[in-house]
Amino acid sequence: MNNILVTGAAGQIGTELVTALRQRYGKDAVVIATGRRTQLPAYIKNSGPFCYLNVLDKNQIEETAFENNVDTIYHMASILSAVGEQKPQLAWDINMNGLYNVLEVARTYDISVMWPSSIAAFGPDTPKVNTPNDTILRPTTIYGVSKVAGELLAEYYFQKFGVDVRSVRYPGIISSETPPGGGTTDYAVAIYYDAVQKGSYSCFVREDTILPMMYMPDAIKALVDLAEADNSRLTHRVYNIGSMSFSAGTLAESIKELIPDFTVKYKPDFRQEIADSWPQSVDDSLARSEWNWEPKYDLHKMTKEMIGKLEAKFSKDKDF
Ligand code: SER
Repeated sequence: MNNILVTGAAGQIGTELVTALRQRYGKDAVVIATGRRTQLPAYIKNSGPFCYLNVLDKNQIEETAFENNVDTIYHMASILSAVGEQKPQLAWDINMNGLYNVLEVARTYDISVMWPSSIAAFGPDTPKVNTPNDTILRPTTIYGVSKVAGELLAEYYFQKFGVDVRSVRYPGIISSETPPGGGTTDYAVAIYYDAVQKGSYSCFVREDTILPMMYMPDAIKALVDLAEADNSRLTHRVYNIGSMSFSAGTLAESIKELIPDFTVKYKPDFRQEIADSWPQSVDDSLARSEWNWEPKYDLHKMTKEMIGKLEAKFSKDKDF
């Protein structure tokens, strides 16, 4: 991996992925690109090559890849599940045509592709607990539909054209650097922000809603570990990755251990139905045996770190 292009570099995962990749492979080895979200933090924008890129414009992807001699694309640009339900046509367009364009450029220039799928690929008919890697994929959101179609397209490009494309099915990702935009699992991030800033939170899913979640450092590690894995050991292109599963109520309790006065109200909205269609936990034994996947964080460790980081972030803001 000498020259990496990251699309969606201003997103929740993109921003932290860029920092991790630049630390690992060198600052000039990572070209970052952003389209819709153009507000990149200065420290990222100034830490290496940067360009504007619309993933719907295949020529632009091609030019960027060619000019920078790109050998790997981390294709992170995507519309998430909740916004997807508000704007299904846009979600389909960006998620499907964006991936198609990236795969086409990858095919032409012999580029490897890392692309995140999601637990949203599963649906109400999928076994809910310890969901197997190979199982029923009948999602009920446009985001999930685009993930299943994307998984199939990725497999097709691998089988038919030999494009080395690899994917993980991310659970909800929790982080303190860049807020997520328009996902169903966003409550698990917003709850920390509001706990630190306001001492209370109004949660848009029920207290007993259990979903699989992961802390950002593990999410980044998963993608990088899979990218570096020995291809001959991989029997799949798409892997479940698990870390922790908890209810919204249990998450609130873990925060109360550090902020005892924290209070939560539960006011489920349209996102409840999306959450209810997803599994509660996934079986990631394939990822563990084929590329040694192993998360480092549990709920307690994550909560401690999240609160520490957010407290530092907001007390710094107050100083200005
Ligand atoms: N976190 C995503 C969402 O909620 C799922 O991949 O949309």
